[in-house]
Amino acid sequence: MKIALFGATGRLGRAIATLAESEISEAIAHPASPSLGKKLGSRTISPRFENHSNILIDVSLSPEQSLAAATQAHLPLVIGITALTPEQMSQIEEASKKIPIFYSPNFSLGMALFKKLCLDAATRFPACTLDLFEAHHILKKDAPSGSALHLSEELEKSGKTASIHSIRSGKIVGEHKLLLNTDEERIEIAHTAHSRDVFARGALTAARFLQKQKPGLYGMEHLLLYSLP
Ligand SMILES: NC(=O)c1ccc[n+]([C@@H]2O[C@H](COP(=O)([O-])OP(=O)(O)OC[C@H]3O[C@@H](n4cnc5c(N)ncnc54)[C@H](OP(=O)(O)O)[C@@H]3O)[C@@H](O)[C@H]2O)c1
Repeated sequence: MKIALFGATGRLGRAIATLAESEISEAIAHPASPSLGKKLGSRTISPRFENHSNILIDVSLSPEQSLAAATQAHLPLVIGITALTPEQMSQIEEASKKIPIFYSPNFSLGMALFKKLCLDAATRFPACTLDLFEAHHILKKDAPSGSALHLSEELEKSGKTASIHSIRSGKIVGEHKLLLNTDEERIEIAHTAHSRDVFARGALTAARFLQKQKPGLYGMEHLLLYSLP
């Protein structure tokens, strides 16, 4: 792959660049970034997309720049930004009519499996109350996490409501736990990310998957089918 990496200066961007150094063809940051002109591996961090790539990955804080670039160049785009506004989600849906777009607030395959297990348990376990705990490092800007919000929205679709509890502490990479309680018993389903590399590797797997797809909006449920038996 020849990847244009948006948000190249962030924690996740740097993790992707470290895992796939030889595949990063463009390292892009927003126009006011203090890192413009500095090096990321062998690439110079630039504010502009120059179309030297065949796929775009955006792990910045805002998808407008990559959406415009991908649509204009007619290239696939992987987006991992959390806390998107409804307007930004609509822009993604609109653009996905013209180009393949993969969107996920959490690129971990284990987390996708965790979500499936939670939905299955919540719909089968009668009259339980649901508490969803999520913990992340103190520098994380959004709370609750995008993954917790996404799981709670999916649970709502099955008529279940989960109370979300957020913790910001130290250097926690990412922890999610669903507690299903009745008066007599409790089930706990948990997922822990040990390292940011799990998200970086997932973003790269999503990019490889997306290269072969037609225009449309894809997510982790498609990647689960593609990657796991
Ligand atoms: N999908 C997943 O699996 C996953 C996993 C972890 C994190 N995330 C999400 O990915 C995003 C980045 O996370 P991170 O931990 O790398 O955050 P981070 O370290 O705070 O990095 C943020 C990145 O966004 C850039 N940025 C700052 N202001 C911006 C603006 N106005 N417009 C566009 N870009 C801007 C920063 O550039 P400068 O530093 O150069 O200013 C930096 O490259 C967040 O939305 C986070 O929640 C997703």
